[in-house]
Amino acid sequence: MLKEIHEQPDALRSTIMPRINNENLPDFTMDHIPNHIFKSINRVVITACGTAMHAGMVGRVMIERLLRIPVAVEIASEFRYQDPVLDENTLVITISQSGETADTLAALRLAKENNATVLSIVNVKGSSIARESDYVLYTQAGPEIAVASTKAYTAQLSCLYLIAYQFALTRGLLSVKECGDRILKFQKVIQAVEEVLSFDRYMDKIGMDLAKTEDLFFIGRGLDYALSCEGSIKLKEISYIHSEAYAAGELKHGTLSLIVEDTPVVALATQQKVFSKMISNVREVRARGAKVILITNGNPTVDQSIYDYHIALPQLEDELVVFSAAVILQLLAYYTSLYRGLNIDQPRNLAKSVTVE
Ligand code: AGP
Repeated sequence: MLKEIHEQPDALRSTIMPRINNENLPDFTMDHIPNHIFKSINRVVITACGTAMHAGMVGRVMIERLLRIPVAVEIASEFRYQDPVLDENTLVITISQSGETADTLAALRLAKENNATVLSIVNVKGSSIARESDYVLYTQAGPEIAVASTKAYTAQLSCLYLIAYQFALTRGLLSVKECGDRILKFQKVIQAVEEVLSFDRYMDKIGMDLAKTEDLFFIGRGLDYALSCEGSIKLKEISYIHSEAYAAGELKHGTLSLIVEDTPVVALATQQKVFSKMISNVREVRARGAKVILITNGNPTVDQSIYDYHIALPQLEDELVVFSAAVILQLLAYYTSLYRGLNIDQPRNLAKSVTVE
């Protein structure tokens, strides 16, 4: 897992760079994805399982923000039994590292039966999901062996960002200049990921501290909430620590009663728009004695008394910071599990690819 975490700059480079043309615009020519599929649809449904579904949650924020069309994110195992509303104007995006996840494959088949267009983001070439989709955008992450998905996740995110930019360009919601400017900024995520890999030592120290805990919470708002879900699954699958992700605004609707002296809370506060709200939430948990691990975009001035650990990510546009933040959450899970003496690459009860229901 650690090796795959460290392969992320290369995985991102290989996924992103061949899909950017000389004018700094997204280009899916090599994937044979025609622009007309982005023109004719009025709704997007993203469906996947586990970490891939969490990538979809980030994709939803980006596509809705840029496109102003409704995007639903559905857990594939729920979607397939819910008689979903689908038609020829729906674009269904399925996401899968293995391309063999049974529920995601069934969701894809259902989408096709209902005449939706299916575009899949897949890592394994020639896999079932790749073969059955109308269009495929391959993540170029290389083989991912550890059960916990790391480099496939950030590569999936990068595909979703490229789709959102291409979609917005095709529909005239971004001008050529605006799209080019965004793509130039977008490429900086590779360097940011490279930079945070050197935070290894600090994450090791936090992991050693967290290894003693049995319950942990992740909180965030917007993109940070989507990331919280991913941070939580990563930690629980390899460290066996009970963890939950909460939209920070939900704390006072129940969760605060679970926060007692020394309960670890990973607070993601990378989004300027809701930064002060997040800091208020951190104060709320701190007042109940929480051990706070605060993650911010850059190094904003924050009262030091509200956290135990502070991770200041390389400053980027708010919408781009998910990539480096995801890597930090992966390292956090990795070191916590390491100090618990567990089999990180093959956690109990879990398989890399879930090919049965
Ligand atoms: C990720 O860390 C998990 N092991 C798991 O949630 C995984 O993402 C899920 O099973 C989906 O797999 P897929 O991407 O191969 O479809």
